[in-house]
Amino acid sequence: MDELTKLSQETQAALDAAADLRAWDAVRVAVLGRSGSLTALLKALGKAPPDERRARGAALNRLKDELTDAVEARRRALEEAALHARLAAERLDVTLPPRPQPQGLIHPISRTMEEMAAIFGAMGFSVGEGLDIQTDWYNFGALNIPAHHPARADHDTFYLPGERDGRPLLLRTQTSDVQIITLLAQEPPLRVIAPGRTYRADHDATHSPMFHQCEGLVIDRDITLGHLKGCLIDFLRAFFGIADLPVRFRASYFPFTEPSMEVDIGWNRRTGELGAGGDWLEILGSGMVHARVLANCGLDAREWQGFAFGMGVERVTMLKHGIPDLRPFFESDLRWLRHYGSSPLMPTMLHERA
Ligand code: DAH
Repeated sequence: MDELTKLSQETQAALDAAADLRAWDAVRVAVLGRSGSLTALLKALGKAPPDERRARGAALNRLKDELTDAVEARRRALEEAALHARLAAERLDVTLPPRPQPQGLIHPISRTMEEMAAIFGAMGFSVGEGLDIQTDWYNFGALNIPAHHPARADHDTFYLPGERDGRPLLLRTQTSDVQIITLLAQEPPLRVIAPGRTYRADHDATHSPMFHQCEGLVIDRDITLGHLKGCLIDFLRAFFGIADLPVRFRASYFPFTEPSMEVDIGWNRRTGELGAGGDWLEILGSGMVHARVLANCGLDAREWQGFAFGMGVERVTMLKHGIPDLRPFFESDLRWLRHYGSSPLMPTMLHERA
């Protein structure tokens, strides 16, 4: 019996000492293998005197069960440890920058539109999309600009052959079509911005036939001019990164808002510096959504009010980054793109910035 106890203790100690599966397997073979020590004892059992055989046989079988269990338990423990070691060693560090560093840069127009989405997103706006090829109803009619209206002449655009819904097709002159798309598709209350491409038959240092605007629309039950002002002041100060940027609201006219206001920011005309200098620079159009626009989309102006705004993406980008000329935005000059492009890894969300 001492012999069996010793074998049990030795095997357990050897298993404990086995640091990996290879060492574990050597212990297993040495004890339970074909020429293992326990196997040899079992084989020798046949030669034992018959009266000893029963008691010794039972003890040997108990020992075999015990050691088989111990060997299994050690295997499971080693496998688990190996898995943990692998998981720890192979852990992905998602904070590492991609290697090699990306070659491309974000175009300043895309960057500005991402920033707009981030700032308005923090105010609960979602991002909507219009259509570059639009009908004159979405671009003009539904926005309270009837066929004879002089505002159509200001928006001289490109008309296309064919029609949709029985209406002539054109390249949209403003992102304001998204107001109509949104009002027809969504139940208020709603808040949406829509950055996108727009077109007009203009081409000089400050006008490109293709340019970008960002529209904004808020509809709810108790929206006032105060909401419009607070929202746009907050946006402009966040976008230009000037906490006390002067903002001025000036009465104006747009067919689809009543009242309408142009929004100016303070700057220095001589140096181009924003935020100081006593001069004013017009930056966007805005107003309370006209009751007729709401009615055109099936909403009752006694129940729902809202405000809208629209701004030129190139214009605010030029001001923010001190870019003097509009034309290089679309000339694909690599020197310009490298100078004004920004890293795709630079965070857009305000709270991520240092
Ligand atoms: N769509 C106008 C334009 O292109 C800009 C604008 C003015 C949009 C006032 C608006 C607004 O939503 O309320 O000149």
